[in-house]
Amino acid sequence: MEEEVLTVATDRALPQMEVVLSAEQIRRRVYELAHEINRDFMDETPVVIGMLKGSFIFVADLCRAVAIPHHIDFMAVAAYGAGTAAMGAPRLLKDLTVNITGRSVLIVEDIVDTGATLSHIRRLLLARQPRRLASVALLDKRAHGDPELPIEYVGFKIDGGFVVGYGLDLAERYRHLPYIGRLNPTQTEENDTRV
Ligand code: IMP
Repeated sequence: MEEEVLTVATDRALPQMEVVLSAEQIRRRVYELAHEINRDFMDETPVVIGMLKGSFIFVADLCRAVAIPHHIDFMAVAAYGAGTAAMGAPRLLKDLTVNITGRSVLIVEDIVDTGATLSHIRRLLLARQPRRLASVALLDKRAHGDPELPIEYVGFKIDGGFVVGYGLDLAERYRHLPYIGRLNPTQTEENDTRV
């Protein structure tokens, strides 16, 4: 009910969508993930790397839920244009501003689909010789992706389809939604014009 009210207040043109994860479900799971991270990085000060733009809300919530000291930085890669289909190797749009050599690093991803983006980022960061490299993904959508790709912390495993909200977008829309919703194929096709 609260989400319906927020929706009306924040986006007049919001299409009908199935709510896959409510704001409350996400909130609880973020605290559980933070608990695991606290335990596993107890004596360390990891560099938490948020993958822009999709993970910006997740990072903001996760870093406030985590009790251990940590540093925060961001990277940006472009995997998709305005549409919903992946387009080959991700392009690095923004690099880190801190040196991670010898540091513990936690990559924060919004969603893993094929795993190509995370694999690429892991390779890039491993070449800088961190002491330890782990990843947390809020959503794991891998059905055909690389099952070998290590993701130490996963918020939720979800079925296919294109999801938006809580930082995730379709052509820059819907990032502000406090929940995660699934768009139907007609809604995503309308935006499948790649830039
Ligand atoms: P991958 O490289 O195929 O794993 O795709 C990962 C990236 O694609 C994510 O960081 C998102 O930016 C984007 N992505 C994949 N699936 C979705 C989705 O359902 N909604 C929004 N973005 C998605």
